Amino acid sequence: MRDNARMAIEFSARIARIPTYPVADGYSLPANVAMLASNESPDPPLQAVVRAAAAALSGVNRYPDPSNSTLKRALSDRYGVSTGRIAIGNGSCDILLAAGEALLEPGAELVYAWPSFSVYPHLAAASGARAITVALDDEHRHDLDAMAAEITVATRLVIVCNPNNPTSTALPFADIAAFAERVPRHVALIVDEAYCEFNLLDDPDTTVDLLGRHPNLVLLRTFSKVYGLCGLRVGFALCGSEDFPRAVDQVRQPFFCNAAAQAAAIEALKHQDAVAERVERAIVARVEIEVGLNELGIEPARSQANFCWFDLPEDADEAEVVRGLAERGVLVRAGAALGRAGALRVTYGTPGQNVRFLDALREVL
Ligand SMILES: Cc1ncc(COP(=O)(O)O)c(C=O)c1O
Repeated sequence: MRDNARMAIEFSARIARIPTYPVADGYSLPANVAMLASNESPDPPLQAVVRAAAAALSGVNRYPDPSNSTLKRALSDRYGVSTGRIAIGNGSCDILLAAGEALLEPGAELVYAWPSFSVYPHLAAASGARAITVALDDEHRHDLDAMAAEITVATRLVIVCNPNNPTSTALPFADIAAFAERVPRHVALIVDEAYCEFNLLDDPDTTVDLLGRHPNLVLLRTFSKVYGLCGLRVGFALCGSEDFPRAVDQVRQPFFCNAAAQAAAIEALKHQDAVAERVERAIVARVEIEVGLNELGIEPARSQANFCWFDLPEDADEAEVVRGLAERGVLVRAGAALGRAGALRVTYGTPGQNVRFLDALREVL
């Protein structure tokens, strides 16, 4: 007879395959800790956005609008993409995972660069598809020629993260446009643009023009970064055809974007002046931190994002450096958890937090 008391629940094989997302710690630490580990905005949400979210709370006895119609209209007005070619998500991660479910299955292939965003490995593990990872080039950027060479008849999805998390680097628009020409029409190409507003190489909206030429193209964006709303979870995808939004909606629960999140995102879109100011502050931080790192003999990757990425000096121990920074009230992300041991990823904070990070790093090294 089976010993029921000692039997464990039997999960599906994919539970053993799916990697655990490397979450940041620090959520239970004192408020004055510099949280530079999750590429969040250091600025609190705008008061008008908080008011819009709060006003939505009085109606939460009703389900949220399942078609996200007002938010889609606002995005459509802003980007000139019809509402049918826009997908909304509970964060852009939700759209990524739904894309994996809608596109992948055993026998299918998925191509992405590595190191890149930690959620991408989940897609193959969850679906049983094969992940083909392509090494970044010597400047921590996507090697698009090498990625194009990995596309086969089995490929269903290619993901390009531009700017790339965790390496902060970006490729110019011309390279992305040329790559899109090389991806066959039946293969979905997701360009993950979570940090595109911080990219000074090109106007962030130039890629939107590519949608008219490439029905298989999906531009993935989020309210989590420059809009500072990651706690509410809203992302969106601008797509080259209506097929992708339809498919990702088919595999998800109907009410994936809550009412406060929809209201906040709609309001946030109206404040592009605040977006520009946040970008400006991030660029100032970028320059100041680069100068500070250079003074320590460190050459960070060429950041086009709201964070930096750099290799530690050879004699430094990554875990010890991360611990030393945490002891000084500065939380950053260790490269080992993100695909490259010996590196650090540091989000730009407030001017005070940035100084604190540089002082702490100087002491620890
Ligand atoms: C490259 C990239 N894509 C997508 C996301 C997901 O963001 P969210 O689900 O908050 O929209 C992140 C978050 O860190 C990211 O770095």
